Amino acid sequence: MQVPEHVTICEVGTRDGFQIEADFIPTEHKIEVVDGLTEAGVPRIEVTSFVHPRVVPQLRDAEAAMAGIRRRAGTRYAALVPNDKGASRAIEAGVDAIHTVLSASESHNLANVNMTIAESVDRLRAVAQIAARAGVPMQCGISTSFGCPFEGDVPVDHLEGLVTRLVDLGAAGIGLADTTGMANPRQVARVLERLIPRFPGIEWTLHTHDTRAMAIPNILAAMQLGVTHFDASIGGLGGCPFAPGASGNVCTEDLVHCLHAMGVATGIDLDRLVAVSRRVEQIVGRPLPGQIIKAGPSSRKYPVPDPVAARLQPS
Ligand code: COA
Ligand code: ZN
Repeated sequence: MQVPEHVTICEVGTRDGFQIEADFIPTEHKIEVVDGLTEAGVPRIEVTSFVHPRVVPQLRDAEAAMAGIRRRAGTRYAALVPNDKGASRAIEAGVDAIHTVLSASESHNLANVNMTIAESVDRLRAVAQIAARAGVPMQCGISTSFGCPFEGDVPVDHLEGLVTRLVDLGAAGIGLADTTGMANPRQVARVLERLIPRFPGIEWTLHTHDTRAMAIPNILAAMQLGVTHFDASIGGLGGCPFAPGASGNVCTEDLVHCLHAMGVATGIDLDRLVAVSRRVEQIVGRPLPGQIIKAGPSSRKYPVPDPVAARLQPS
């Protein structure tokens, strides 16, 4: 099996996850989680989003969250923005990278950002200028890349056209997002086989949701094609307020455990990550979907039951 030696994980739980929590999460708890992730060695963190506070009230404290985190040199702190207003706010708040959002399907783009795809691309041109002036990279995420909950299939020709426009605007990276967990591994491979060779120099990120238990299989398929950047959410938090049926991202600690078990390095301390996940469970007040927090790592050993131990011992 072809796997990379090292994979870069971007934690999106405090954005993709916290944006849909029913209760507002106090800013100091958001900061505590980001700081815990930093200390666990997570190399990239999408801290929050600079969107309309009426549309996503959960993240209305974006400026305060960015201002409160303890930054570690070498960790990249990013935020999601839908337009130039969001980009200016994000730069003002001191982000290291701008992550943009638009959807591959018209209906989801309208539902999510109240713009047609063409209008979004226009606004992203302004975002690109703001990012370039500030000297920070722009990574463009494409929601519903592998299927739309309203429209169904997203033709790969259409996806390629959209990637072309974003690369022309100056995107340093493209994030393909499976917003509602519709992708399967063969489809992921087919799309990446088509796109990767056509856009040399572009950094590809796969953003998965585990809605149908296909997130890790999809990540493995992408790794086989050389993708080394993946988004994940602590505890498996996540969802999209404007995509019916969306549920959590691939769980960060489950993904890190899987990668480490295969000998793929992430630079992340799994024990510390699990401790952050436990704290997030306390903060949101419910168990999260991750498995490793319950099962422990595959290296875990249980004591042999006494009757079995007796039979193992030569009498
Ligand atoms: N942050 C804060 N305020 C913003 C903003 C931003 N990023 N973008 C626009 N606004 C303000 C404008 O300044 C304007 O304010 P005013 O009425 O006081 O003049 C008002 O919002 C309307 O601007 P407009 O460009 O018409 O925005 P809209 O109402 O059509 O909303 C978005 C568009 C993109 C801002 C909104 O749909 C949004 O924030 N979507 C985010 C969705 C999301 O986060 N989804 C989950 C993540 S995938
Ligand atoms: Zn998502």
